[in-house]
Amino acid sequence: MSLLPLNPDQLLSTTRAVRKRLDFDRPVPDALVRECVDIAQQSPSGSNNPTMAFVVVKDAAKRKAIGEIYRQCFEIYKGMDGVYIGSIDKGTAEANDQQRRSAASADFLGERMGDAPVLVIPCSAAGMRTDGQAGMFTASMMGNILPAMWSFMLAARARGLGTAWTTLHLMQEQAVADILGIPFDTVQQVCLSPLAYTKGTDFKPAARPSADNIIHWDTW
Ligand SMILES: Cc1cc2nc3c(=O)[nH]c(=O)nc-3n(C[C@H](O)[C@H](O)[C@H](O)COP(=O)(O)O)c2cc1C
Repeated sequence: MSLLPLNPDQLLSTTRAVRKRLDFDRPVPDALVRECVDIAQQSPSGSNNPTMAFVVVKDAAKRKAIGEIYRQCFEIYKGMDGVYIGSIDKGTAEANDQQRRSAASADFLGERMGDAPVLVIPCSAAGMRTDGQAGMFTASMMGNILPAMWSFMLAARARGLGTAWTTLHLMQEQAVADILGIPFDTVQQVCLSPLAYTKGTDFKPAARPSADNIIHWDTW
């Protein structure tokens, strides 16, 4: 295992949504996927009872089928004004330029998801779905898998691999469950990420508002 020389803050602040810089032609060793899942399992779990699962898709025909579903969902998303990444006004010319670049990157992945050498679908395997559940149960079930997936993505970045958190395929979650044999009623998919070596390993922190914009000291 060789890791990039990134300190914790650098790792946390340079793990970007990678799309155009994914190397679709270079295979990802299974051993690296296992290492990332091992790291992911160090994340917290409600009642110390982990219910996380990772579906790792390498099969070319399955990747192609999932990629086509993602492409169709992305087409629907592109028509959602004010929701589609490219339709959001960020307020300044500089921020809008950045938003347009992000949109072009998202558009690219919309067409190419199925070309990634590996697709990763983290799941909540709590034996039930969050649909219709009280907030506490929803937060607990999602809390058992979302931090784990972020840990996976950080571990991937440390190994020279790129990921991108996407949720659009969940419009067609059942169709993807059917392709992969996931029991839809008891195992809930939470996102879909490509996994590939990145073209180059230099990624920068993104511009974000200052912390004071979102901290509410003592009262909202
Ligand atoms: C809940 C969530 C859903 C997202 N869904 C998608 C998606 O479906 N497709 C996509 O290309 N990116 C998706 N993203 C990635 C965001 O577009 C990306 O994180 C954002 O533009 C900021 O870029 P950065 O992560 O590189 O800082 C999603 C991110 C999150 C957290």
